[in-house]
Amino acid sequence: MFTTIRSYLFILILLPWTTYISGDTKIAVIGTGYVGLVSGAGLAEFNNEVICADIDTEKIAKLNNGIMPIYETNLEDLVRRNVQKGKLSFTNDIVYAMTTSDVIFIAVGTPMKDDGSADLSYINEVVDMIAQNINGYKIIVTKSTVPVGTGKKIRARLEHNFGINPTLFSIVSNPEFLREGIAVYDFLHPDRLIIGSDSDKALTTMCKIYEPLIMDGTIRILTDIQTAEMIKYASNAFLALKISYINEIANLCDATDADVKMVAQAMGLDHRISPYFLKPGPGFGGSCFPKDSQAIINIAQQYKLPMLTVEASLATNYLQQKKPVEKLVTLMQNKINQNLINKKIAVLGLSFKANTDDIRYSPSIATIQYLQQLGAHVVAYDPVANNNMKTLFSDIQYCQTPYEAVTDADGIIIMTDWDHIKQIDFVRVKELVKQPFIIDARNCINPNILKRLGFICDSIGQSHLYRQKNECTYKVFSYTRN
Ligand code: UDX
Repeated sequence: MFTTIRSYLFILILLPWTTYISGDTKIAVIGTGYVGLVSGAGLAEFNNEVICADIDTEKIAKLNNGIMPIYETNLEDLVRRNVQKGKLSFTNDIVYAMTTSDVIFIAVGTPMKDDGSADLSYINEVVDMIAQNINGYKIIVTKSTVPVGTGKKIRARLEHNFGINPTLFSIVSNPEFLREGIAVYDFLHPDRLIIGSDSDKALTTMCKIYEPLIMDGTIRILTDIQTAEMIKYASNAFLALKISYINEIANLCDATDADVKMVAQAMGLDHRISPYFLKPGPGFGGSCFPKDSQAIINIAQQYKLPMLTVEASLATNYLQQKKPVEKLVTLMQNKINQNLINKKIAVLGLSFKANTDDIRYSPSIATIQYLQQLGAHVVAYDPVANNNMKTLFSDIQYCQTPYEAVTDADGIIIMTDWDHIKQIDFVRVKELVKQPFIIDARNCINPNILKRLGFICDSIGQSHLYRQKNECTYKVFSYTRN
């Protein structure tokens, strides 16, 4: 059976609908972070009976009171609806969650260790708890991103460390592809479902769990565990690579007066490339791309294999995160012959991208650090991430509005393309600032507005728009350069 699954790698298997057992599947989701909470609520929306468990008592108390511990679009509605339907509940009693469920999703953190490898201690703790409390056949699903080979290790741990009979459990890898900020949408409308297991029984149950999606025509890829685990790393490292590539092209555009948005859109029209994930900026951040790129390098090292492309992507990302400050330094040097010592610089946007309060590996961290190294006084604004950033930088000033942040500023760096930031009234900003320098590290503000108001600006890969004196026709595709 195992060989059959392997040989059908990447084919879509239509398991007969009749094999699905009718009735709701009882699911425990261990870990209520971004992945666990969204997945738990989403699985409940698919009519499963879900219990989300976490050792964090404060988090569970909040959830039981209808308060979301994270900021995620439409999550509150999804949670409330499913709690009301009786499909979703929360507990601190992890053993209770495990013993009352048939399927256990592990969605605990796998943070990066100093050597770049993923720390599996939280996963192992959950596996040990399952072993100690197993009370019947369980399907153990890894939802967290885990190094290739983890599924096999979980099996070995259960069988060898705890002597659990292999007929009592199946292992499944079901990686998530959720983007923070639109994670609920991504869970409910995935491009594809990846399910890896060496058990037909487990694959059938997993298909039943995702039945509404499958009925809607979502492509499922049923494969073995290690292939499913690899798909996640290969996808994330490739997306990261794509961003690093367009960031290098953006820098070359700046040097040659070419326009990166046009370049990216035109490149993307080649079906083999696609325009998605070709937006240049201040480098990628977040909890996945930096960590997963580093982890795949680490996995390759274990097999004594080079991963030069991914290493290059990370090296580019490191350099790119310095770009916004470097650009500000260059502008101020060229226009007023001044450096950043004692200058007040407003950093607008702290989260690693819009619509999330997550600051993990946010490019804003590198920007603030670099500004401080150069002697600047940093003032920051983010609609939701101020408090998170305070845990890293207690010595900078945080503001409740962008206008407060830019008051008397010598320079502004736009780091996140929040709607709150894109909709700023720059007429008002011009009246408030001390000096009119702006770096738009997300290419999200119309250059004509800034130029008309007399700002001295730069962007990522669109410097020519600011260099030319006349107004630019800011239209992708139909845009013709003067
Ligand atoms: C990512 C993956 O997209 C998701 O599939 C995976 O499961 C988890 O990691 P996430 O980290 O939430 O999701 O955010 P994403 O929207 O992918 O952005 C990651 C980083 O890349 C951000 O810093 C973002 O600003 C940057 N980015 C993204 C770009 O610079 N350009 C782009 O075109 C896209």
